[in-house]
Amino acid sequence: MVSITSCLDWEITTIEKIGNRLKGYHPLQTTLAENNGSQCGYCSPGWVMAMYSLIHTNPNLTMLEIEQSFGSNVCRCTGYRPILKAFKKFAKDYPNAYEIPDIEDLSICEKTGKKCNKTCDEEDEWCVIKKEDVMQHKIIEIPLQDHKKWFRVLTVNDIFEVLNQEGYDSYMLVAGNTAKGAYPIKEYPQTLIDISDVSELKRTFIDQNLVIGGGTTLTEALDIFQHMATQDYFEYLLKFYQHLKLVAHIAVRNIGTIAGNLMIKHQHNEFPSDIFLLLETVGAELTLEKVQLARIAYGGLSSTFIRAAATEKYLTGKELFTNDTLRMVLQVLKGELKVVEIPPNPSAAYRKQLAINLFYKGLLSICPEDKIPERYSSAVINLHENRPVSQGIQVYDTNPSLWPLNQPLPKVDGLILCAGEAKYTEDMPSLPEEVYGAFVLSTVPNGKIVSIDPSKALAENGVIAFYTAKDIPGENSFTPNNTPVSIVFEPLLSDGVIEYYHQPIAIIVAKTRKIADRAAELIKIIYSDVRKPIVDIKIAKRDPRRVFLLATMPATEAGREVVKIIKGENTIYGQYPFTMETLVCVTKPTEEGLEVNAATQWLDIVHEMVSRVLNIKQNRIDVKVRRLGGGYGFKVTRVSQTAVACSLVAFKLNKPCRFIQSLSTNMRAMGKRFPCSFDYEAGVDNTGVIQYLNVNLYEDNGYKINEPIASLGLVVYNNCYDSKRWNYKCFNGITDTAKNSWCRSPSTLENIAMAETILERISYELSLDPLQVRLSNLDYANHNDLKEMTSTLVEKADYNSRKQDVQSFNSQNRWKKRGLRFSCMRWKSSAASYLDANLSVYHGDGTVSLTHGGIEMGQGINTKAVQLCAYLLNIPVEKVQIKPNDTTISPNSFCTAASITSQVILVNIRQCCEELLKRLAPIRAQMINPTWEELIKKAFEASVDLQTHGFVGNNYLNDYNVYGVTLAEVEIDVLTGEHEILRVDLLQDVGQSVSPEIDIGQIEGAFTMALGYWTSEHLVYDLTGELLTNRTWNYHVPLARDIPQNFKVYFRKKSYSTDVYFGSKMTGEPSVCMAIVIPFAIREAITAARLENGIPTTSWFNIDGPYTVEEICLATATRLQDFRFKD
Ligand SMILES: Cc1cc2nc3c(=O)[nH]c(=O)nc-3n(C[C@H](O)[C@H](O)[C@H](O)COP(=O)(O)OP(=O)(O)OC[C@H]3O[C@@H](n4cnc5c(N)ncnc54)[C@H](O)[C@@H]3O)c2cc1C
Ligand code: FES
Repeated sequence: MVSITSCLDWEITTIEKIGNRLKGYHPLQTTLAENNGSQCGYCSPGWVMAMYSLIHTNPNLTMLEIEQSFGSNVCRCTGYRPILKAFKKFAKDYPNAYEIPDIEDLSICEKTGKKCNKTCDEEDEWCVIKKEDVMQHKIIEIPLQDHKKWFRVLTVNDIFEVLNQEGYDSYMLVAGNTAKGAYPIKEYPQTLIDISDVSELKRTFIDQNLVIGGGTTLTEALDIFQHMATQDYFEYLLKFYQHLKLVAHIAVRNIGTIAGNLMIKHQHNEFPSDIFLLLETVGAELTLEKVQLARIAYGGLSSTFIRAAATEKYLTGKELFTNDTLRMVLQVLKGELKVVEIPPNPSAAYRKQLAINLFYKGLLSICPEDKIPERYSSAVINLHENRPVSQGIQVYDTNPSLWPLNQPLPKVDGLILCAGEAKYTEDMPSLPEEVYGAFVLSTVPNGKIVSIDPSKALAENGVIAFYTAKDIPGENSFTPNNTPVSIVFEPLLSDGVIEYYHQPIAIIVAKTRKIADRAAELIKIIYSDVRKPIVDIKIAKRDPRRVFLLATMPATEAGREVVKIIKGENTIYGQYPFTMETLVCVTKPTEEGLEVNAATQWLDIVHEMVSRVLNIKQNRIDVKVRRLGGGYGFKVTRVSQTAVACSLVAFKLNKPCRFIQSLSTNMRAMGKRFPCSFDYEAGVDNTGVIQYLNVNLYEDNGYKINEPIASLGLVVYNNCYDSKRWNYKCFNGITDTAKNSWCRSPSTLENIAMAETILERISYELSLDPLQVRLSNLDYANHNDLKEMTSTLVEKADYNSRKQDVQSFNSQNRWKKRGLRFSCMRWKSSAASYLDANLSVYHGDGTVSLTHGGIEMGQGINTKAVQLCAYLLNIPVEKVQIKPNDTTISPNSFCTAASITSQVILVNIRQCCEELLKRLAPIRAQMINPTWEELIKKAFEASVDLQTHGFVGNNYLNDYNVYGVTLAEVEIDVLTGEHEILRVDLLQDVGQSVSPEIDIGQIEGAFTMALGYWTSEHLVYDLTGELLTNRTWNYHVPLARDIPQNFKVYFRKKSYSTDVYFGSKMTGEPSVCMAIVIPFAIREAITAARLENGIPTTSWFNIDGPYTVEEICLATATRLQDFRFKD
């Protein structure tokens, strides 16, 4: 967020500086790597540096403080547990805590070759400002490339001096520059005045009052409040301190200022500023429980409603903690609250309920203990703030006689990922004459394009070219129409018809990315025939023109003991995969054609479509990828659009082109996980056994049906239950949204969730134990494994006694409730085909290079390949090196997806190794106990070909099931709707793991990703069809303190798949389907809260989409009459 021009005077340490392969790695880097805290690695340098700064600011942090400090770093892969585990090793309360060396001890001066003592006077090469300028007190002016001016000032007078000189028409004071996180700035004013060094604005003093300068950062304010809270008359600042600690996160608080925050509120009245709220409430007075003066301020309700004036007035002079006062004041408050809808924020109904609930919660927090009913006392606890340090165990067997197969090892490239040395597509250095491309997106949800006028954009300085569908030499499609994975064309650029809001229509090309992004907004497009969009599958499924029967699985029998008929529907929505690396591509012209560097899970689709779109032969195009910064299915086909667009520009201009989608373009223009809606009717007997079940499931493809994703779930539509009485139909649906696509465990997740939801409902309706209902319906003939696994978990997780504990907790606590529930999972993936591997051995030292058709995106495919290769050749893993992949080495390869690729690559590696060993056998027979190096040398001399190839066509199917069972315990705050996951026990059947630590990472990461899906990742569209939740400000993926407080992962013992895969099973996706246990546990807690209001547990309530704070709070159906003090 910080502008480079603000960094004047700053000493900046980068990941490269703290440790690297030349001078040795930093303990933070090695510890993170050793603990497998890095999967795709895209986030890892950020974590290392966040921890590095943290520990240098305060080396004496506890484990809890370290965890609490990571409120802003996202990791989509790991599930955070291993990252926290690594960093907590540096905490003062960690047994035998690791030490951090001083950076100076690590820094060797390039000039003297000795330890850096920072005496050098000479400026570093990159310094853009003269040192004298910094040292002297004078206004510094920096002319910016876009002809704006940047001024660094040191006094308030300076500010006015600049303004008098430059004029007041177009200027901005820049303090921390963080406000743009809340309200993005598309175009900065002409004059920018950096006031972050104006010490007058940071002055703090006390006359009668505490006066804090507006330039004080939130971190500085925290220190001031904490210190002042110890002084007479300022005790209330402790509340300020506690509240401010929850504002934003450390990085923002370190530079964001009080004035900046208040100015956002001033400019955008609806901004829910916590600073404003705190300041607004100062002055409340309470003496001897009689209210002298009340100040009740609210943020986030509407842009105008701030003070609850009528309530304040009513309260003044009243005894506060009596039930009469409470009853009346709640009515007054309810009457005066003005709450308006502010999408995508939570609904007005929730915010109003929350405002009232928080008022009551606040009263309880200041109420004398003897006036609080005992069952109410836990109401004042803030769940999230009181979360303890997290913990977890990972339990698996490993057989040393097989090592390095089955050996728990860190990722082979973990260290370079944690050191920032690993390269991603975007890291490719700038190329001469490079240009940047950006998509121009539609601003209507459907209709026709009447005209496009790019003249305004083309007139902008730095804009180079503009392309529409008319400029495409070949097919206008980024997907092929002839593969099992993609069956029809999807337009690269709109062909005149608009199908969804933010569909790419054209490409604008400019000298920089910023200019391209800005110019994209200047294209004038006129549309016709625009209709109201349907974006919700729940509505679309009722329209026969929008649904198409995909498959029917008819029942073969029906039971006769129907005692209850249960009918319902449920809808779950999309999930943005949130790869940390967005969709990117860099294409450059080469001698023979083009080199396309695409962040793709499928080289072949990019290869074929660049060729078809540009009408150039495939052998003139090279597509390359080294690794991905996360994939989760998003980059199977969606990145092809970016790659083909990027290549079109490079081809047309004969210049290198870089196409980097912003997070918000990614979110708006690209499809996501399939939303899904299902209708069901079940007849059950009194033990919950299904007598008949009719289910219709509707998968939302977005605007077009292309990839056969809905059919992937058909193999698990009944999950693990006896399907003889299940009548199941699956429909493909279409809505006016971006074409949805692959997202970790696509369609299997929806189908398993559907089956589990129905079973869960049966257990409530009949008041039966949820596990018993599952076991009563289990398909013992085919999935008996789950019988053993559930009983193992019942014992390991201590289910029976914890069930009692939850019941007694719920009876003892009115405003906190707990739930403890199971979920079962059977998972099966489809087949993969056409993958290969190449193995080369070097005669000089016997080292081995491997390439394979799979793509490393954090799932550990390379580590598994290395382990297997080393095992089969009987050499150390260090001797095996994975090399990058491209379409020359691995032509025509299938996509890396559905967890199956890591398995098929094992087959490829086996083929390579067996062929090599076969060739080496005659040589070995002539030698006596040769070392590997001697054997290879000899083989080379005997002209043995030391390069082998493995290939798998479409004959390797996944012929086993993966089973899992999970038990989760959660606690909810009935008054706010917040929840905490207290404990998760997860037992998964991974077979004989090739690499146990990699598989643990896959399980924890997948589970955490789905945890976000079920609780916080909420996509909100407005009536025009525009996606409003399109950035981190309003789309919330899980963070480090959202994971289970205690996460126990067990591998099933003595499990084995087939010899084909060395006994191993897939792990990347199944655990995604197990996280449905979280909404189930939350549901039980909600049910307990509803019971307090007289709603029986047998009364089912429906929640569509994630169990957000809003859904939880509203579902508890809390009544004002239940708010009270002790009589
Ligand atoms: C990820 C994130 C999370 C956040 N979470 C919260 C939250 O939970 N609660 C909350 O209340 N806020 C939150 N914020 C907002 C945050 O507190 C503000 O962004 C920050 O305080 C703004 O200060 P700044 O110095 O960066 O302002 P800048 O971005 O530098 O400036 C913001 C505006 O204030 C003006 N300005 C700055 N200083 C002065 C001055 N001294 N005099 C006059 N005008 C001035 C600027 O000209 C500009 O118009 C969050 C922000 C981010 C990015
Ligand atoms: S390892 Fe953290 S995002 Fe991939």
